Amino acid sequence: MVSANLNASSVLVSKSHNMNLPVIGLGTLQVMYKGDADQPTKVETVISEQAGKLPEGYKLTDLSHEKGISRKEAIIRAMEIGYRHLDTAFAYENEAAIGDAINEWIEQGKLKREDLFITTKLPNIAMKKEKVGEYLQKSLDNLRLKQVDLYLIQNPVGYEELETKELYPRDDKGVIILDKTTNLCEVWQAMVDQVKAGKTKAIGMCNFKIGQLEKVIEKTGVYPDNIQAECHLYFQQQELRKWAQANGVVFTAYACLGSPAMMKVFHNARGNDELRMKDPMKDPVVERIAIARQKTTAQVLLRHLLQLGLAVIPKSSVEMHMLENINIFDFDLTEAEMAELNALDLGERGRKFSLAGFFPGYDKHPENPYPAEEN
Ligand SMILES: NC(=O)c1ccc[n+]([C@@H]2O[C@H](COP(=O)([O-])OP(=O)(O)OC[C@H]3O[C@@H](n4cnc5c(N)ncnc54)[C@H](OP(=O)(O)O)[C@@H]3O)[C@@H](O)[C@H]2O)c1
Repeated sequence: MVSANLNASSVLVSKSHNMNLPVIGLGTLQVMYKGDADQPTKVETVISEQAGKLPEGYKLTDLSHEKGISRKEAIIRAMEIGYRHLDTAFAYENEAAIGDAINEWIEQGKLKREDLFITTKLPNIAMKKEKVGEYLQKSLDNLRLKQVDLYLIQNPVGYEELETKELYPRDDKGVIILDKTTNLCEVWQAMVDQVKAGKTKAIGMCNFKIGQLEKVIEKTGVYPDNIQAECHLYFQQQELRKWAQANGVVFTAYACLGSPAMMKVFHNARGNDELRMKDPMKDPVVERIAIARQKTTAQVLLRHLLQLGLAVIPKSSVEMHMLENINIFDFDLTEAEMAELNALDLGERGRKFSLAGFFPGYDKHPENPYPAEEN
């Protein structure tokens, strides 16, 4: 158990020493909008009842416009509050707004580039060795940066890159158009080359299973600095965490609050399963600990993950939540409280994200990382 001594500036260092990852960051994905991203005509946080399908004309993306603030304003607010680690992806289609916010602050002398830690990700449509540099450069152009701090492969499954550059290409039946030739070792080697080219300081991957991690490490001899995966109270990723710790790889938990809005999306896509709809922020044990500590349930959940040695990237565009989520350094869960929270792990049954449910056909890819019951 990692204890006390953590503060908002604490970092997790990778074995290559290329990466000092702040333990708390701001996630920037999650909301559904219609129209232009910065002036949406309609925004919803709860996705349609139609299984696995966004309603006609809607797109899925980042920060909440229903709160009446633009993406750029949300990022500025987060930086004012103290967030220095921002987690984005080419596929979130918000890199330009993040670039606007951070460059404005750098130009105004409020921050130096080195004060910030920027993570972005390679999209599924670029899962080919010759596409890695091209798509990282697109992200750098969007962000108006020369280098990111961390570049991650977003997902081990490749989709076809169509002329339209559709991020989630589907055929007329709604089935995702896969690129089944994905070669993870070649893509990983191309990621390694980006560090050598100075376009990113550190590299890693999201949503890989242990066998996939071991395959690329064995082939290239290069360990990731970071892995990012779903991890929260009900899906504590014990095996993957153990693997990361044994191999000196820093682990970032996404959906660290249980991703309440996405939970509904995947639930609808997958069918009824009450266990998967359980909201960690409403768990009675978490509520009891929160009351005793005069904290919120979100703060207890985040603190639990920090003390397990993970970095967390809760998403919020609500000022009060952003504040709450970063104020997790003035209390320490006891060993007994940690044990109680650890015992609430549901293993696979607690997983919220199911891409096969959301993108029909996803599971037909040879690198589908999800276990059969998820498909
Ligand atoms: N690599 C990957 O494949 C991958 C996949 C998924 C996510 N991610 C990253 O991880 C980030 C976090 O995951 P996530 O956004 O799915 O889930 P999450 O951070 O667990 O949950 C975000 C949700 O919780 C709400 N929330 C945040 N703080 C709260 C608080 N203190 N009290 C009550 N509600 C609160 C937010 O709403 P409000 O905005 O209204 O506060 C939002 O609906 C993403 O934004 C993204 O950057 C990566």
